[in-house]
Amino acid sequence: MERRKVVLVLVIFVVSVLLPASTLGAEETGRNPRKESEGFGSNMMNIAHRGARSIAPENTLIAARKAYDAGADAWEFDVQLTGDDQVVVMHDDTLERTTNVQNLFPDRVSYEVREFTLKEIKRLDAGSWFVEEDPFGEIGKGNVPEAALESYRGERVPTLKEALQLTKDLEWKANIEVKSIEAPAIFVDRYMVIILSRVSELVEELEMERDVLISSFDHMAIRILEEINPELPRAILANEPLADPVGHMKKNGVRTLNLIASALETEKGVSNLESIDKAIPGYRVFVWTINELAEMQRALEVPYITGIMTDYPGRLREAIAGRG
Ligand code: G3P
Ligand code: CA
Repeated sequence: MERRKVVLVLVIFVVSVLLPASTLGAEETGRNPRKESEGFGSNMMNIAHRGARSIAPENTLIAARKAYDAGADAWEFDVQLTGDDQVVVMHDDTLERTTNVQNLFPDRVSYEVREFTLKEIKRLDAGSWFVEEDPFGEIGKGNVPEAALESYRGERVPTLKEALQLTKDLEWKANIEVKSIEAPAIFVDRYMVIILSRVSELVEELEMERDVLISSFDHMAIRILEEINPELPRAILANEPLADPVGHMKKNGVRTLNLIASALETEKGVSNLESIDKAIPGYRVFVWTINELAEMQRALEVPYITGIMTDYPGRLREAIAGRG
């Protein structure tokens, strides 16, 4: 057994003693076992990257609603642990870029998410920065109505539970990306086991096993998630071409690969995906992040791609509709 896996199994054991009994394990809950392949859609998926983040503040409930309204089949969002071990939706490991944390907490030496409690994070405005910075230039182009802009101000950082509840209320789907942290290995291992356990617990509590996909760049974390809850649909993320993408999927016990779009330009990055149908039944390959119409159209022609993540779900909806 790999050294990190041994450590993680030990951490799981310790955490399972410390956390409530419902947090870990599937058997005691009486959950119906489901196959990993049944979790996320198998047709071409339009996945809004951090919500419709070209026209709304990323990783917020309003960005999710905008993506839903734009016709996305799902939204992707990132999760992290707060200092009091609550799961919140946030991309960066610090809070400055997408909130007003520096105004509200000017004396803090660190703005890392895990240095703040959930109560503190809930005080932050996660919407005004978008209105002021217009990161995709869509406000300047007149593509975001004035009333929407006003509603973005004061938008809160969602908890995972709130994000999942909205997804459920909309009868929608979510790709939860579990972010890792930069820290000594033992802290990373404890962190990952806690966040994976919390994610599993919440998905189970809301009975959303069929409506989520859980991904991470930390492939060991994905293998550990299988041990925590084998029913959860899982994906490995790759931010560079993989020499053997199918081999990586098999090794990590997943049927879904979330692949950086630039890998499509290299033979190495897609070397054996052409034959993936036979190698991994019920496979999915989602590519991220594609925003230009012509690139969307090219990706839609690639036979092994079953989903595209985009900051422009409305544009992708039109590209999919316009396919021959
Ligand atoms: O899940 C795909 C993509 O979201 C990973 O990159 O940096 O946008 O979280 P990032
Ligand atoms: Ca992400």
